[in-house]
Amino acid sequence: MCGIVGYVGDRPVVPLLLDGLKRLEYRGYDSAGVAVVRDGEIVTCKAEGKLENLVARLDSAPLAGSHGLGHTRWATHGAPSERNAHPMVDARGRLALIHNGIIENFLPLKRRLAEEGWAFRSDTDTEVIANLVSERLDGDLLPAVLAACRQLEGMYAFAVLSTAGGDGHQEIVAARQGPPLLLGLGDGEQYLASDPAALLAHTRDVVFLENGDVARITPRSVEVFDGSGEPVERRAQRLDWDPVQADKGGYRHYMLKEIHEQTQAVQDTFAGRIDFATGEVLLEGFAAVDERLAAASRLHVLACGTSWHAALVGKFLIEELARLPVEVDYGSEYRYRHPIVDEGVVAVGISQSGETADTLSAMQAARELGAAALVAVCNVRGSEATRISDATVYTHAGPEIGVASTKAFTTQLVALYLLALHLRRVRGEEPDPALAGELAHLPQALDRVLASEREIRQIARRYHRARDFLFLGRGINYPIALEGALKLKEISYIHAEGYPAGEMKHGPIALIDPDMPVVAIATGERVYDKVKSNMQEVHARDGIVIAVTDRDPEDVEDVADEVIRVPRVAEWLQPVVNVVPLQLLAYHVGVRRGADVDQPRNLAKSVTVE
Ligand code: AGP
Repeated sequence: MCGIVGYVGDRPVVPLLLDGLKRLEYRGYDSAGVAVVRDGEIVTCKAEGKLENLVARLDSAPLAGSHGLGHTRWATHGAPSERNAHPMVDARGRLALIHNGIIENFLPLKRRLAEEGWAFRSDTDTEVIANLVSERLDGDLLPAVLAACRQLEGMYAFAVLSTAGGDGHQEIVAARQGPPLLLGLGDGEQYLASDPAALLAHTRDVVFLENGDVARITPRSVEVFDGSGEPVERRAQRLDWDPVQADKGGYRHYMLKEIHEQTQAVQDTFAGRIDFATGEVLLEGFAAVDERLAAASRLHVLACGTSWHAALVGKFLIEELARLPVEVDYGSEYRYRHPIVDEGVVAVGISQSGETADTLSAMQAARELGAAALVAVCNVRGSEATRISDATVYTHAGPEIGVASTKAFTTQLVALYLLALHLRRVRGEEPDPALAGELAHLPQALDRVLASEREIRQIARRYHRARDFLFLGRGINYPIALEGALKLKEISYIHAEGYPAGEMKHGPIALIDPDMPVVAIATGERVYDKVKSNMQEVHARDGIVIAVTDRDPEDVEDVADEVIRVPRVAEWLQPVVNVVPLQLLAYHVGVRRGADVDQPRNLAKSVTVE
């Protein structure tokens, strides 16, 4: 999932492009590059690896220009290398193109172009688009881009600039089919980017392009067309994030900053949506779907990665509190299993970015198969998931820059709790002030667990050399065990698995030895004794038990080597508190092992291709 930026205007373009790429680097860091038009020529500068390599190259050979494109890459077609770095220049040197996505029919197109004498310098699908546009370029970039789009199959967000308009003519043409692309509106200057974070420092007025849109921006104009070249209206929106939120705020890493922002993020997510006196939940925009929610016979909840773990907690909450059956599916699996969808099904897509292709395609499949409604739980206003849905519960986590999702996860759990209470209400139950009131205890509980970071750092120091970890949880905390394992894998590259604690004796217990740290989540009443006996099973085999518990240390010290105390809150909200020590453990183990915790290898923040 690459990052795209572009600018037309009077200001020196390269510093603007680099600033935008800096804010998009979490989308991919295999290579980076910029292209400008200078003296009627296309000039590029590219470097393999992180953005700092490109910055160093530009420091030693500065590049000037007034309009340009920038790209940070997550490799799909063609290995991470300078040769495959974007921007791609066509074989005739008349245009430069940057792209995010995958062209599924690039090989037959490449073969045809090569047979007609077009040269190729890279292994990328993107270079095919560049030559396709150049093939039809006859002075005007827009019709050439429209013609190229008609031949493409797959996912693409691309932008192209050319020398066609002659010296001094500034124009960028961009097209979107799948991955996100938005325009930033300025006064005598315009921007484009894959993600609002890259524009915040310059403008809050943006236009989100729809699938099939082709846009042309010049310093004084922004036009959007459909695939046949007919003008279309696109409403400008004002972003509600501010640039400061997208900075590190004095923390060493975005991940640590975002872990410590969870108290505020959770508070912001339920603030103004709960009437604590009556227990009423107020979800903006749900009046349109409430009838269908009331009539629903089951929910299909669709998500990937950390959001899928939130979906598993959501199943627990909705089935317990609203007595509505919930099926949870990985976005990448859903449509290929021919799910049984009828008018009794409401589909819920959970996605921090709102741009995860697997989740989006599952949501669209549910719609096509006849789901009564689509609901999104999402953190990014204007993102695709919110646009294809009938209603959205926004998580108010603010921009999440660290690739490993933390505050978005805890706010997703709170949003799902609100959704469960809302479903309970529209399905005929009276609002319950006690259930609503439980939320009010969360901020203080989060502050207390965040204050135990020093102890967790000590535990990380003792076990950061471990080769494997096991995470155990039961009931509503089983997904938290999965999430703890995922965070450790993502951040430290240690092999880790999450398991329902009761499942251990059916196999994974064979892994237990004196070098295997086992993190066990032992909180609440319902299954505490069961988890305690699972800790005893590990202890009996000399495994290392790290207990996350709301009990006094004495209660577990007979079976635990390490104890992480967490405050007790309502059982349904305990996962919001229990995950924080696991995030901190993963963070400090990762830092101790010298891993790049904000940009772990091979990962990207939002996965916009299937
Ligand atoms: C989590 O830390 C990862 N970044 C990843 O698993 C992520 O949760 C997944 O790609 C889903 O992203 P989304 O919530 O933006 O759809």
